[in-house]
Amino acid sequence: MSRIPKPDDARKRIEELRKAINYHNYLYYVLDSPEISDAQYDAMFRELEELERAYPEFVTPDSPTQRVGAPPLDKFATVEHAQPMLSLANAFTDEEAREFDERVRRFLQWSGTVEYVVEPKMDGVAVELVYINGSLTTGSTRGDGIRGEDVTQNIRTIKSIPLRLLEPQPPAPPIPERVDVRGEVYMRIKDFLELNEKRRESGEPLFANPRNAAAGSLRQLDSSITAQRPLDMFAYGIGELRGVSFDTHWEVLQGLKAWGLKVNPLVKLCKGIDEAIDRYHELLEMRHELPYEADGAVLKVNSISLQRALGEISRSPRWAIAFKFPSKQETTVVRDIQVQVGRTGVLTPVAILEPVRVGGVQVSRATLHNQDEVERKDVRVGDTVIVQRAGEVIPEIVSVVIEKRPPGAKPFRMPEKCPVCGARVERLEGEVAHRCMGISCPAKLKESIIHFASKRAMDIDGMGEKLVDQLVEKGLVKSLDDIYRLTLENLASLERMAEKSASNVLEAIEKSKEIPLDRFYYALGIRHVGEHLARVLARHYPDPRLLMDAKEEELEAIRDIGPKVARAIASFFREPQNRKVVEELFRLGVRPVAPSTARPSPLQGKTVVFTGALSSMTRQEAQALVERLGGRPASSVSRKTDIVVAGPGAGSKLREAQNLGIPVISEEEFLKMVAQAEREGGGGHG
Ligand code: IVH
Repeated sequence: MSRIPKPDDARKRIEELRKAINYHNYLYYVLDSPEISDAQYDAMFRELEELERAYPEFVTPDSPTQRVGAPPLDKFATVEHAQPMLSLANAFTDEEAREFDERVRRFLQWSGTVEYVVEPKMDGVAVELVYINGSLTTGSTRGDGIRGEDVTQNIRTIKSIPLRLLEPQPPAPPIPERVDVRGEVYMRIKDFLELNEKRRESGEPLFANPRNAAAGSLRQLDSSITAQRPLDMFAYGIGELRGVSFDTHWEVLQGLKAWGLKVNPLVKLCKGIDEAIDRYHELLEMRHELPYEADGAVLKVNSISLQRALGEISRSPRWAIAFKFPSKQETTVVRDIQVQVGRTGVLTPVAILEPVRVGGVQVSRATLHNQDEVERKDVRVGDTVIVQRAGEVIPEIVSVVIEKRPPGAKPFRMPEKCPVCGARVERLEGEVAHRCMGISCPAKLKESIIHFASKRAMDIDGMGEKLVDQLVEKGLVKSLDDIYRLTLENLASLERMAEKSASNVLEAIEKSKEIPLDRFYYALGIRHVGEHLARVLARHYPDPRLLMDAKEEELEAIRDIGPKVARAIASFFREPQNRKVVEELFRLGVRPVAPSTARPSPLQGKTVVFTGALSSMTRQEAQALVERLGGRPASSVSRKTDIVVAGPGAGSKLREAQNLGIPVISEEEFLKMVAQAEREGGGGHG
């Protein structure tokens, strides 16, 4: 916006922009069906911000620009609810729900059916939002029902909560003078899991469940923190209401929707208790597919005049009941603790349970994560345990009922051998996980092959995930070395593998036999050995057999290699399965090429002339040695000669060298040079 409009125009434009932005906010956050692009929305938002910057006197608290930015508080103020926020009595069975209906009808002396609105009971935090003439003035928690905490600043950061109510379309009721909206602030399960994941990474304490996460987020003194938490709200009722009236709860919900609040789309109007109970069971069925946690259904008498007639008893309305879903915690018995081996070789203890229904789902196993976790909870075979399904993830054991432990129950210990392949199991330093050390363990074979064949490792072009899947599943590759036993026939027999591509793969396999040694070391997938360390190892161990026998202390002496890595390498080669695979690879023609010397050989590129007699070898042998170390043997001395090796009886060549100022060395010095070049790993194959 280049020109700043006059105040009157600005005021009008500001109003227009707010209306439009509020409406598009509503489409996006409440209805989840935006009509304009983010860029269009952003442009309007920026224009509004600029106008408000130019005319600060026109800024109002309900402007869409005013959601965040309030200064942090020292503590929350207390707000009294205009009408108390009641709690609900519970029902746990169909029978109890029917008793509730009977009570209602008895109280009303009514023999016909009663209409109920059935709503999911959200597991979050109850809040009240006060709207005066359509503007949000206060947001508070339920507290003790009479007084709650003033969390207005935090409530304002929740995008699906309108700062100003939407102008409703007739026949919907107009915006009332005052309405106290009640609802549940909650966090979606997916967002809860992500939030916890982030907290785990940054070492912050985890939230036990989505409800605690929502409550913790809403009770932040610094609203900029709340603004970063993915909170949402469903409105489910009203308290104080002035200027408008409703006949039924269903109309209340429609009114809230028309004013731009988010109402749970699963609410249903039911004629009579049978329909209401059916709806409860439908919601129960849906429970695990819902993106949020619901712990039951709320049944509410629809007619507001009947609600008034029913009134309340001990802080609960007689006209509503919480019909709870079955608990998500149950007790059962641990039959066994088995150990699973994952794709990466990590061993996970799993409790095999006496099957039990938890939250309506049959549960017969629960993860115990790792040895530390088993020890912390001290779960033993035969124990009675409490299991729960939290956040709809894999069921877990909450705790052991110690009093019920059978005598003689033994603490669990991780096996020393992999239950899948029998290789050694190790817990590497600084890790919680125990791992199978076997390179060809069937549990992780696919991952091992994919890594082995990958571009930066053996670079076997064409050996991707799909091919590896087939090779392993058809039993053609049972161990890494089997790759080099594959035939054209084997490969061509696979699905979607034309003869041509089969022969390409075979060629790539053949080509990979002459791989630089560091890539070979990397390809073995030794824990902690990435590309850099693989290069370090290749420099120090140009002969893989020396690496295979290297002791931990010896490895640790190398700069760049710490105790953790040294242990991982030594353990890897201590495992017979791995040694066998490496030996087989060599036998099948894999010949990793050691790097040329770190410091170039002193003979590299040098022209060397021999004169006089040699005592330790023939002249031919000496010349071959020069060649092998990258030098060039010559028979006559010229300006291009770099070194002359002179022995007894040297004549004209020696004089020529002296004339030209070319260095002359003895056989002994030459041999020292050769030894040094060889020590530093001069060319050749490992
Ligand atoms: S109605 C008088 N409807 O459940 C009516 N409550 O003990 C009182 N809740 O703390 C509440 N979803 O936060 C109602 N659809 C729903 C609800 C719901 C969750 C919570 C509410 C309250 C508790 C009732």
